[in-house]
Amino acid sequence: METLTFSATALEKLPVTIFDTPEEGSRRIAHSIAATIREKQKTGEKAVLGLATGSSPIGVYQELVRLHKDENLSFRNVVTFNLDEYYPMQPDALQSYVHFMHEHLFNYIDILPQNIHIPDGSLPIEKVAEFCAAYEQLIEEAGGIDVQLLGIGRTGHIGFNEPGSGLASHTRLVKLDPLTIADATKDFIKEEFVPLRAITMGVGTIMKARKIIMMAWGEGKAPIVREMVEGKISEEVPASFLQQHERVTVILDQWAASELSRIKTPWLVGLVDWDQNLMRRAVIWLSLQAKRPLLKLTDEDYRHWGLTDLLVRVGSAYSLNIQVHNAIQNTITGWPGGKPGSDDSHRPERANPFPKTSLIFSPHPDDDVISMGGTLLRLADQGHDVHVAYQTSGNIAVFDDDAHRFADFTLGLSRKLGIAIPEFHALHAEVEDFLEHKNLGEEDTEIVQSIKSLIRQGEALAACRFCGVKKENVHFMNLPFYETGQVKKKPLGEEDIQAVADLLTKVKPQQIFAAGDLRDPHGTHRVCLNAILEAIARLKHEPWMQDCYVWLYRGAWQEWDIEDIEMAVPISPEELLRKRKAIFKHQSQKDSPVFPGNDKREFWQRAEDRNRATARIYDQLGLTEYEAMEAFKRYHF
Ligand code: F6R
Repeated sequence: METLTFSATALEKLPVTIFDTPEEGSRRIAHSIAATIREKQKTGEKAVLGLATGSSPIGVYQELVRLHKDENLSFRNVVTFNLDEYYPMQPDALQSYVHFMHEHLFNYIDILPQNIHIPDGSLPIEKVAEFCAAYEQLIEEAGGIDVQLLGIGRTGHIGFNEPGSGLASHTRLVKLDPLTIADATKDFIKEEFVPLRAITMGVGTIMKARKIIMMAWGEGKAPIVREMVEGKISEEVPASFLQQHERVTVILDQWAASELSRIKTPWLVGLVDWDQNLMRRAVIWLSLQAKRPLLKLTDEDYRHWGLTDLLVRVGSAYSLNIQVHNAIQNTITGWPGGKPGSDDSHRPERANPFPKTSLIFSPHPDDDVISMGGTLLRLADQGHDVHVAYQTSGNIAVFDDDAHRFADFTLGLSRKLGIAIPEFHALHAEVEDFLEHKNLGEEDTEIVQSIKSLIRQGEALAACRFCGVKKENVHFMNLPFYETGQVKKKPLGEEDIQAVADLLTKVKPQQIFAAGDLRDPHGTHRVCLNAILEAIARLKHEPWMQDCYVWLYRGAWQEWDIEDIEMAVPISPEELLRKRKAIFKHQSQKDSPVFPGNDKREFWQRAEDRNRATARIYDQLGLTEYEAMEAFKRYHF
């Protein structure tokens, strides 16, 4: 279902349409492109499309392929120009945009090969300028671009027009921004393998398109989307030039839209319908903006920061300040499994039953300790029956060299013990041979994938031992959607949901903890959460399920906004050190893991920084000062 909130506000300088999910937004875009193609077919004209690569357009291409297969959409009148290509880049390399476009679109439609244009990354450097001029010429000769599809990079780039690119720029060789290189690392395994340059259409080339569709999905894009839509036009954010285009639409999912003023601070945009939640958000925002603790906010502060409207609604700041202060106070508990024998009417968790069966779902084998290690330790220390379920094997994040090392170790051990199994020796030789000749990004063989999974299992077991979780309470689910051997995963399937439902039915937890940390670069956390939510929806009528609280945690990739937190578990300096040690058990993820995302800090550093930052904000709001805090939001089903 489409949720359309098309109501450009005074602050928005581009027309924005927000959809619930990227799938819905992608379908809308594909249908609009299909309409252009069909219109042109009627008059016997060519439809000229400007195409993008990257994660954003994949859903659009999937829908276009479906329209071709199921609804006879022909591409024989379509001419395409891709925005860019890495330089240098061989067209047959797995990371090339030529490969990308064929894998996601061209192989499945009836486009004529001669109508496909993608910048050539394999040219010698002295030929590049000439090629770029000819590319511009070809676009002109095709009649110009009818519809240009764009994604936005976190630097604000469109195409590979990084900050500093001007409105007059045309197709050319450019240097990639370090942030773009970090973002591209997911496709190249290691940062040093990412090309430093690219050939890209210019901002000027893009602006000449008759219609532009800009899309962005996910919270990771939210800050730059806000700059593009609400910020000043500037070379620092090349996407902001789109504000000067006459026919541009911005299609977002709710997460990419989450930093827009109309969503983040609607009271700054116009009159709002105040409810409890919005009032709480506004007061917290005010306290942080005005840099005054909640209980010291005055009527004057409300007026000065544009909240007169709220003041009119509540009469005076005094009681609202107390109300919000107390609500936040009540989120703090050192008893994440509930405090036995105490009044729990204002506590986040119920006192009874005690002890509880707590089931922690961890998407990768280390999210549990990274994101809620302090809480996990408390739950175990306080006598709860803690289970941990590792949803995926996490095998793609293990270095080849580690797999090599463990294979050598096993062979060495077998030799030492005099257990000579010929098949095993042959297997070792096969592993060694594969790893020595492996191409960049090539899928691991089954045995190498298994070795990598086992490495992570061993680490997770060590962390659980350290935290006091019983061995029989550790569950390795190896959900099938993840087991592709590649960064790209399968969509969530019935088997995944069933596996989660089976585990829930077996454990019958009174508390579930799940990752609501959806900014991980490859979307694994989102799929893992969807598997849990779908399983819960199926089981919600079971009596034991009705007695179960579901808590969402964050930490590896992002933190909850303060106004969303419903349980905050304080961590003392000593506990923070214990948490760090638990994270250290995941040795394969230490010291520049394979997929660290674009945050240079190691996971334990990110976790500590985020936990300290949460505690600092509670302190700023005028609540008790703690060293660090882990935060949770309750999911109501
Ligand atoms: C791709 C391109 C880039 C991407 C942008 C977003 O051809 O030109 O501008 O659109 O980097 O990338 P994703 O979609 O991977 O987030």
